[in-house]
Amino acid sequence: MLIIYCFLFYTIRTTSTQDTLRLGQSIRDGETLVSANESFELGFFSPGKSKSRYLGIWYKKIANGTVTWVANRNAPLPDRSGVLSISSQGNGTLILQNSTNGIVWSSNASRTAQNPVAVLLESGNLVVKSGNDNDSDNFLWQSFDYPTHVLLPGMKLGVNLVTGLNRFISSWKSADDPAQDDYMYEIDPRGVPQAMLLKGSTIRYRPGSWNGLHWTGMPQLQPNPVYTFEYVSNEKEVFYRFTLIKSSVPSMMVVSPLGESQRYTWMEQTQKWAPFLSFSGLIDQCDNYALCGTYAICKMNSNSAECECLEGFEPKSPRDWKLLDKTDGCVRRTKLDCERGDGFLKRESVKLPDTRFSRVDKNISLFECKELCSKNCSCTAYANADVRGGGSGCLLWFHELTDMKILSEGGQDLYIRMATSELDNFERRNPKKKKKVVPIITSVLLATGVILIGAFVYARKKKRRDQGNRKEEMELPIFDWKSIANATDNFSEENKLGEGGFGPVYKGMLIDGQEIAVKRLSKSSGQGVEEFKNEVLLIAKLQHRNLVKLLGCCMKRDERMLIYEYLPNKSLADFIFDGTRRKLLDWSKRCQIIGGIARGLLYLHQDSRLRIIHRDLKASNVLLDNEMNPKISDFGMARAFGVDQTEANTNRVVGTYGYMPPEYAIDGLFSVKSDVFSFGVLVLELVYGTRNRGFHHVDHHHNLLGHAWRLWTEDRPVELIDKSLEDTYSLSEALRCIQVGLLCVQQRPEDRPNMASVVLMLSGERSLPQPKQPGFFTERNLPESESSSSNQTFHSSNQITVSLIEGR
Ligand SMILES: *[C@@H]1O[C@H](CO)[C@@H](O)[C@H](O)[C@H]1NC(C)=O
Ligand SMILES: *[C@@H]1O[C@H](CO)[C@@H](O)[C@H](O)[C@H]1NC(C)=O
Ligand SMILES: *[C@@H]1O[C@H](CO)[C@@H](O)[C@H](O)[C@H]1NC(C)=O
Ligand SMILES: *[C@@H]1O[C@H](CO)[C@@H](O)[C@H](O)[C@H]1NC(C)=O
Ligand SMILES: *[C@@H]1O[C@H](CO)[C@@H](O)[C@H](O)[C@H]1NC(C)=O
Ligand SMILES: *[C@@H]1O[C@H](CO)[C@@H](O)[C@H](O)[C@H]1NC(C)=O
Ligand SMILES: *[C@@H]1O[C@H](CO)[C@@H](O)[C@H](O)[C@H]1NC(C)=O
Ligand SMILES: *[C@@H]1O[C@H](CO)[C@@H](O)[C@H](O)[C@H]1NC(C)=O
Repeated sequence: MLIIYCFLFYTIRTTSTQDTLRLGQSIRDGETLVSANESFELGFFSPGKSKSRYLGIWYKKIANGTVTWVANRNAPLPDRSGVLSISSQGNGTLILQNSTNGIVWSSNASRTAQNPVAVLLESGNLVVKSGNDNDSDNFLWQSFDYPTHVLLPGMKLGVNLVTGLNRFISSWKSADDPAQDDYMYEIDPRGVPQAMLLKGSTIRYRPGSWNGLHWTGMPQLQPNPVYTFEYVSNEKEVFYRFTLIKSSVPSMMVVSPLGESQRYTWMEQTQKWAPFLSFSGLIDQCDNYALCGTYAICKMNSNSAECECLEGFEPKSPRDWKLLDKTDGCVRRTKLDCERGDGFLKRESVKLPDTRFSRVDKNISLFECKELCSKNCSCTAYANADVRGGGSGCLLWFHELTDMKILSEGGQDLYIRMATSELDNFERRNPKKKKKVVPIITSVLLATGVILIGAFVYARKKKRRDQGNRKEEMELPIFDWKSIANATDNFSEENKLGEGGFGPVYKGMLIDGQEIAVKRLSKSSGQGVEEFKNEVLLIAKLQHRNLVKLLGCCMKRDERMLIYEYLPNKSLADFIFDGTRRKLLDWSKRCQIIGGIARGLLYLHQDSRLRIIHRDLKASNVLLDNEMNPKISDFGMARAFGVDQTEANTNRVVGTYGYMPPEYAIDGLFSVKSDVFSFGVLVLELVYGTRNRGFHHVDHHHNLLGHAWRLWTEDRPVELIDKSLEDTYSLSEALRCIQVGLLCVQQRPEDRPNMASVVLMLSGERSLPQPKQPGFFTERNLPESESSSSNQTFHSSNQITVSLIEGR
């Protein structure tokens, strides 16, 4: 659990409404300067339990006193006697004096100026400038040049190479003591500049050098809706800076006394700072600096770090290596022979090694880079310096290679110098180009969604409905078997689109050119021909733009088929769970899809004359038309299939794990609220871009629901938003979707809203209650597929283990 140390709350006493301190004026304890639009305030405060007084700057309007800068962090005032003024010599130096007029702290103005004034700007920057110089940014001094523990928007993190000024952020000793502690986040300008988190002089974590898009070891730094960022490196200066996107939420970076370099964003809803985890530092064990020593690469394997020597290298001390002490790292198996010529072996998808002893040439190609490295016998590796536009520039290493990590996304290619004999070995062992296998969690969702509990016994207490008597009003086309067999090329494998809960689906084309989708119901429904026709006729009457249109049916002995319009874009699952196609679903499309599904479901539940419970709503059952409008398919299937729907309990649980609510999966109880649960899962999947089932997170064993719940309770819902959305989404809409999703997946059906409320909530016309704990947020121990005589256990959210009951 993250404890946010540095956010302190205290009462703000007297207020003044001026932002400027002039020569001859002073600020005493209890008086403050307030920036023009009241975003920031400067004054005296006591952090936490401390009695000492400090001069600092804090957020005024939001975050109730979150301190962003401390002047005398290392020189506390014992009492309330502090006075801030501009030096009477009029040279622009700010001085903080104690009761005996001793100077406790002073700013170091670089030059003198006429009529100096100090102004607290809206950015939270306290600046000293010449009062004769109205709009000048020509500051004599600014607090942004001397950050304490917080990096604010607009602040530079980095080094002025001309003056030597190094702007870094460093932790407080504790929540009660802002004195500078050991942890520092800085840019190390040696070799090729890199971002680093240090403890004293020891490197703890190295985000790495800049590759044009992000730090090489921090691919999670991506364009986002909260802030933009830049990196500048030239002869004069090297710095990183972020800037808030207009009208976005406040955001800042903090180094905590625990040594976390963490980004926070202000959550209006909860009135708290929430960690923006995806953009912070240390994420897994492999991020610990040089964990594997030299010439070794670190790889996360589920929750633990694994070290592996680079190709052509072996453990330096095999005994220690076996004993899991890898810090010695690896050594070359074969000596280099620079005179006769060495080769290079390419390693893909890595976090590039430490560049403190590297050199960069931004102007040459990778080919020239190789030449350059070959020629210099002390060159150990090379890589592209900039990955943009297919890669450019040349980064060279002249030292042992350390602190590499395998990245599943955003890694780079590294070319490692190697004796030619080793290269030959390598090629002999790997005749084809070696492909690294990235473990992908494949889902068994599509394979089979049918889970059978108990025996295949169907109650056939069919009740005729009054609507059924009016069937003559509409003639349902009944296709003949032969034309359907022809249209689908005799139900060939090539034409198979997928397999749903009730059987396979085929694509087909009728003689007149119309494309159709044919759902072949599994046999042995036990339903008679007339009953089937009646049901299908009823379903065919359901007409809504968010439902797939049923064109007709087809019967042959005990075979039953339903014929639907064919939708070329396939299903939502084909988009949302596909790394590349997901990007086609921008935020407005996702909203449109969520809204469409909600309206389609509402129609099924309430607006149609039948009360249809879908029972198997999931991403692969939502088809998309040319304009990406969602169309629910497979609705009414249970009816067509002859499964009794009028009772709230069923003998046969139809559905898909990951989408089923606990009361249905365990007890076979279903209601409209079961569909609401599935809808909630779908919403969260759409926001996050990942399946609930098969979801995997390094920190815990929860499924997506559990992950969402965890982030929600930890006030970090922003992290649930699909990164591939970049900055295209509206934060408030996304947060609303998350909250609606969580409300829909609550453990108790009676807590979940009905679809009518959901539609209103999504449109923002109804306020949202706080969600309670979801059902099934952990899913280990769930049976993988059907199991009719299974004793396997479910873990329900309240940690009670429930056994599947056999033969209900
Ligand atoms: C803000 O600070 C004041 C004074 O300490 C306190 O009474 C108030 O509850 C705080 N508000 C929030 C939202 O924390
Ligand atoms: C203060 O707020 C007003 C209105 O929102 C805006 O026009 C003005 O530019 C702001 N001033 C500063 C210094 O940010
Ligand atoms: C400015 O005045 C202070 C004392 O008030 C003095 O210590 C400091 O050296 C002066 N700085 C410059 C640049 O003259
Ligand atoms: C005031 O500050 C001066 C200089 O730091 C110091 O020598 C002196 O002891 C302080 N006086 C009190 C009362 O703290
Ligand atoms: C001012 O300069 C002195 C000596 O160069 C340095 O020790 C001190 O930390 C500086 N003060 C600030 C606020 O940077
Ligand atoms: C600065 O602003 C003041 C008051 O707004 C004005 O009187 C003065 O002429 C301005 N000075 C310059 C150099 O623009
Ligand atoms: C880098 O390349 C550009 C265009 O190819 C050229 O204009 C520039 O002078 C080169 N810079 C150096 C330092 O070689
Ligand atoms: C090889 O590169 C290193 C590091 O830049 C440099 O010091 C050395 O002079 C170079 N050696 C040759 C032979 O160019």
